[in-house]
Amino acid sequence: MIIHLQLVGLFITVLLTQTIASKSYYVTKSGKDSNAGTSESASWLTIQKAASSATAGSTVYIGSGIYYETVTINVQGNAMDGSITFTNLTPNTVPIISGKDVKVASADGTKNLIFISNKSYLRFINLELMNLTATECSGVRILGGGTNIELRNLHIHNIRGGSENGGAMAITVYNEDQKTSRRQLIIDNCTLHDCDPAWSEALTLNGNIELFQITNNRVYNMNNIGIDFIGGENGVSSLGARSGRCANNTVWNIHSVYDGSAAGIYVDGGSNITIEWNEVYQSDMGIEIGAENKGRVAANMTVQHNYLHNNDKYGLAFGGYDSKRGEVINSLFADNQLVQNDVKLTGGGEIAVSNASNNFVLRNIVKPNKQNIIFLVDQTLGLKNQFDYQVYYPYGQGVTQKNLIFSWGNNRYVGLSTFQQKTNQEMHATVKTS
Ligand SMILES: *[C@@H]1O[C@H](CO)[C@@H](O)[C@H](O)[C@H]1NC(C)=O
Ligand SMILES: *[C@@H]1O[C@H](CO)[C@@H](O)[C@H](O)[C@H]1NC(C)=O
Ligand SMILES: *[C@@H]1O[C@H](CO)[C@@H](O)[C@H](O)[C@H]1NC(C)=O
Ligand SMILES: *[C@@H]1O[C@H](CO)[C@@H](O)[C@H](O)[C@H]1NC(C)=O
Ligand SMILES: *[C@@H]1O[C@H](CO)[C@@H](O)[C@H](O)[C@H]1NC(C)=O
Ligand SMILES: *[C@@H]1O[C@H](CO)[C@@H](O)[C@H](O)[C@H]1NC(C)=O
Ligand SMILES: *[C@@H]1O[C@H](CO)[C@@H](O)[C@H](O)[C@H]1NC(C)=O
Repeated sequence: MIIHLQLVGLFITVLLTQTIASKSYYVTKSGKDSNAGTSESASWLTIQKAASSATAGSTVYIGSGIYYETVTINVQGNAMDGSITFTNLTPNTVPIISGKDVKVASADGTKNLIFISNKSYLRFINLELMNLTATECSGVRILGGGTNIELRNLHIHNIRGGSENGGAMAITVYNEDQKTSRRQLIIDNCTLHDCDPAWSEALTLNGNIELFQITNNRVYNMNNIGIDFIGGENGVSSLGARSGRCANNTVWNIHSVYDGSAAGIYVDGGSNITIEWNEVYQSDMGIEIGAENKGRVAANMTVQHNYLHNNDKYGLAFGGYDSKRGEVINSLFADNQLVQNDVKLTGGGEIAVSNASNNFVLRNIVKPNKQNIIFLVDQTLGLKNQFDYQVYYPYGQGVTQKNLIFSWGNNRYVGLSTFQQKTNQEMHATVKTS
């Protein structure tokens, strides 16, 4: 009997799932929130109405036009019925959410165009988010634990007015909850530009966040760091951004307003993250892996196949950048192309290493600028790492391995063979002329 009842229950659930799964809702500029929302002719007027009413597994189709709102997502999908998808109604036309004249703050006091807290199974595809101004604000702000959120093909720009106490960020993902992680997060093919994230970052994952994918995005014209993975801000032992992949992003024109040291892609205390096939150029720095909080260790990173070129300072930097900071360990920096970084001729060269140990720097193609400076390895903190198999292209006519400069601790070695003899590093390096 019990078994029989369970079967009936299962049958009803399956039926319900099927009806819910196919459900569509509509939002258009000619709609009314008192409508049912279930057809184009009975559409809702506001995205907020959909964000408070849509059911698990449904799709919310948003008509073209400008929606002057800030949306708090009060609904979510689930594993059985599927995600709720917010997307464009008209093919090739992207609806706009504008924060012009926004006065309403989200539950946490910040201002955001889309605000999500402790929610799962949501997808946002083909939307444009723009024109929000506040000292602390985001295009999309995701807080707390949860799973399966996707942001795809979002165009987020002109998020302005950030300050030292906040930041006007494109996409913010924070999770302070140590028990429930934010996981299965996908941010793909988004275009983020012209924001004022200082002193924060344009696209940031901070706290207990794992199994994420940040892929195929374009990030440019920012007044501080481009993409950031953070752990340790809430105590060095707290869980940070980890076990994810950051790949095939293109990042450029990233310059810090306050210290000229913003990396296009930065890890601050994260771990086990693969950063590959990205391009960073014309920024303060290309990629930096560090740990800003003393005692924090950024570990097990793989940074490979990136193309880092024409940045103002280093192409690649790793280590807690002074003795008051943490350390980078057990990481691999391989098969990257570093081309004519240190445009500002700071003397730092292509690769800078500070407090770091047991890392491997292998097979990178290094084409320095006219300084011919390869590394700047900090005098006490950076010597416990292995460098080998790099391929060097010295700059200039008739210039050879003898002209390459390696700053290694207190010493400045001129010439690859001198460097090899003195340090036993780079024993299999090759030098080519272009
Ligand atoms: C965005 O802001 C710019 C500059 O203030 C303004 O010209 C434009 O009309 C705004 N667009 C929207 C959709 O808010
Ligand atoms: C999110 O979940 C955390 C941990 O359970 C809780 O402390 C917090 O109040 C929740 N936030 C919201 C907005 O529900
Ligand atoms: C990626 O975004 C661009 C718009 O910037 C769009 O044209 C393209 O179709 C998107 N690619 C995919 C695979 O959705
Ligand atoms: C990398 O991104 C570019 C555009 O940003 C896209 O055309 C290309 O398909 C992507 N490659 C992969 C392997 O996803
Ligand atoms: C490292 O990250 C990958 C995902 O990129 C994950 O599958 C793996 O379990 C993680 N390893 C550890 C030791 O956490
Ligand atoms: C390097 O960082 C580690 C971890 O924070 C710390 O224990 C060590 O003292 C640092 N080394 C120096 C020389 O600052
Ligand atoms: C790094 O990987 C090692 C070996 O898999 C593991 O023991 C360690 O916990 C990892 N460290 C971090 C910070 O993830």
